[in-house]
Formats: sequence, structure tokens, C-alpha cells
Amino acid sequence: MRIGIASDHAGYRHKEYIKKALEERGYEVVDYGTYSEESVDYPDYASRLASDVSRGALERGILICGTGVGMSIVANKYPNVRAGLAYSDEVAELIARHNNANIICLGGRTMTKEEALRRVEIWLSTGFDGGRHKRRIDKISRLEGEICRGSK
Ligand code: RB5
Repeated sequence: MRIGIASDHAGYRHKEYIKKALEERGYEVVDYGTYSEESVDYPDYASRLASDVSRGALERGILICGTGVGMSIVANKYPNVRAGLAYSDEVAELIARHNNANIICLGGRTMTKEEALRRVEIWLSTGFDGGRHKRRIDKISRLEGEICRGSK
């Protein structure tokens, strides 16, 4: 599976750690930057990755900033993106089971590198429950269309 990963300066160290671990496990990891701890603007990095997930060029993505919140705000502006902030192991599981999240957001300042990697592994290895959760996700897609057409 091809997985994209991006961070700002606050998530850079976590990004490098997670990228290396995933590559060692055989994943193809596409690095969207940033490439150092020099201060940058998280919307620039979230948008490049989320755009590729949105148009189907990338199956899944990992976004890391200081809290994970800025990255998730940007990513969820893109159609077909469901980005979830994995602030605990339980939530990492639930964003897969209930939200079918195609992007996981993590906080470089709010969790350790080990916690962040563990949450990525939980998210990657957990399937979508479907059923009533599918109905709810389909409603999000319909809402997206209605908002774009200006009828909501
Ligand atoms: C950068 O200082 C910080 O604001 C950013 O990494 C992120 O936490 C925003 O949500």
C-alpha cells in the first residue's frame, strides 16, 4: 500500500520516525515534506497530501503538526477526505471502524513518537465496520455535494 506522510516543523521528528518504521515494514511511503525543523505553514503540507487523497492518487495519508488539529481542519476541506485526529489508541481504532478515515492526524507536541506510530499501526490494521457507519459516511458525501451547490 502507498501511504503519504506530511508534517510541519512541529511534526517533523515524528514524521521521520514513522516513515522509517513503515518503510521497514514494507510500505511504500511518499514523503510530502517538510524536510527540516525550520518553521513552515501547516496548510501548505496538509493541502498537497489531502488533494492527492481527494482525487484518488493516494490511498491513505498521515498528517502531523503540533496538535494534529490544524492538519485535520485543512484536510477535511477536501471532498472524499475523512481525516481523524487520533488522540488516543481507542480513537485510532474508532476512526477506522466508524469513520473509515483515509487520513490520520497526529500531534508532534501532544504524543510521543512511539504513541504516534502505535496509533498509525492500529489505524492501518483495523477495518471499517460498515452498516450504519456506511450510511452516515454516505450522508457526509451528499452534504459535500449540497454545500458545493449552495443548497445547504
Ligand atoms: C505550529 O506552531 C502549530 O501551530 C502547528 O503545528 C499546529 O499545532 C496547528 O494546529
